Amino acid sequence: MTVFHLSTECYPVAKVGGLADVVGALPKYQNKIKGVEAKVVMPWYNKAFIYDHEFDVVFDGFIHQGPNMLQVQVMKEKTDVLGFELYMVKIPGLLDRENPYGYQDESFQFLAFQQGILHWLTAMQIRPDVLHCHDYHTGLVPFMIEYCPEFEFLKGVKTIGTIHNGEYQGMMNWNMVDYMPDFDSWKWGLLDWKGYINPLACMIKCSHAFTTVSAGYLEELFISFKGLESLVRQEFGKAYGIINGIDTEVWDPETDPMLDYNFSIKNAVEQKKKGKLKLCKEYGLNPELPLFAFIGRFATEKGADLLPDVVWRSIKQSYGALNIIILGSGNTYIENKLKEYEYIYSNFALDLGYKEHLSHKIYASADFLLMPSRVEPCGLNQMYSMRYGTIPVVRYTGGLRDTVADISTGGAGLNFTYAGVDDVIHAMNRAISIYNQKEVMQNLIYANMKFDFAWEKSAEKYLDLYRK
Ligand code: ADP
Ligand code: GLC
Repeated sequence: MTVFHLSTECYPVAKVGGLADVVGALPKYQNKIKGVEAKVVMPWYNKAFIYDHEFDVVFDGFIHQGPNMLQVQVMKEKTDVLGFELYMVKIPGLLDRENPYGYQDESFQFLAFQQGILHWLTAMQIRPDVLHCHDYHTGLVPFMIEYCPEFEFLKGVKTIGTIHNGEYQGMMNWNMVDYMPDFDSWKWGLLDWKGYINPLACMIKCSHAFTTVSAGYLEELFISFKGLESLVRQEFGKAYGIINGIDTEVWDPETDPMLDYNFSIKNAVEQKKKGKLKLCKEYGLNPELPLFAFIGRFATEKGADLLPDVVWRSIKQSYGALNIIILGSGNTYIENKLKEYEYIYSNFALDLGYKEHLSHKIYASADFLLMPSRVEPCGLNQMYSMRYGTIPVVRYTGGLRDTVADISTGGAGLNFTYAGVDDVIHAMNRAISIYNQKEVMQNLIYANMKFDFAWEKSAEKYLDLYRK
């Protein structure tokens, strides 16, 4: 069975968030299953990876986007070093950029990506068994292969759409229709949702099955899905919640080259302590105090708007009996507020930016990881921190409620219900009291490290779905 994963991100080639981690790992684990051949198709980016690796040009052609003729090249990484065949679609001007997102003309960018892929597959007569589309950026593919005469060759290929983040739907004005490949115009309604072309809605309507990255998140979409609630209810018959795994080869505290002090469950307590000492020294924090960390995008989805108040109130209310370290970037108001507090409070450290190495060190060295997410389709941070023996303190939502159970119910983490400052601080107080009970704390470290979030189980679930 050949499966092509279509995605704008893939670790380590280009990563903005968890989508990259999933697409960089799932195909690798699928390829370990007999009879499955999983590949990844992504845009070409001007990133270090392309300079460090060699590519073959496997296709060179042209597509029309409205009045514009665009060159399309497909480059294959020569050695399959990532554990799967990696294809990168290069379209000068649109798909040869520094970053996946953030451009004014992203509708043109993603339309060209999807059309480029399908043009290549059609021209080279490559007919996979499954096209697995990730998020709205590739959400029009199931429609295009059914209703664009140009891609007739691919008609009937099975399509799966995975929703990693339903907050982003890629809505476009209808005038963008002129830039799409020709399609059976009777089918326009499949593209439409409330007067816009909505690629995510179209993916839900046209794919043979769609998935969300946790079962908990799927349930929540029925009541809160940025206007698509009724659609997901109508299409429920083909909806599946499959929780993400983590790449336990990349995220292995015993071998992780990004850590200063590697550890296994046998020496976790001592080694984590050394890591914490070093981190605290670098950031001027007191290593005796409990260390809370937040890593992620400064977006309301992640509850990052709560962080400034959480920082000052938790420090004040505990009379400085805790440390907080925050790594991330995003909303400038939040960034500025946090910068101000970093200046005022010596118990608070801030590192603005995207730093893969530092994130690994923090997962390994902090005592607690804070995730006050309002929306969390799956969340990978909590799983990384648990594998590295750091206790997750999470809001009870989406994938977080599927992966982190509270200690009061036999779990090894802490849950809170509302995305509000009071609830976060209450949970932090509970965490501090655990920190002060040495034995309880150690047992929780071990319990977290023992959780099995390996991809194998979920890779099998996807395979069952493909077979279906
Ligand atoms: P999302 O994809 O919604 O941002 P996830 O929890 O699925 O959330 O994945 C986030 C991924 O991005 C994790 O691998 C996390 O470690 C990483 N990450 C987020 N922010 C940063 C940052 N500032 N520096 C390094 N890694 C980060
Ligand atoms: C999205 C979600 C996150 C999820 C990730 C990978 O970015 O916000 O919760 O873990 O995709 O599926």
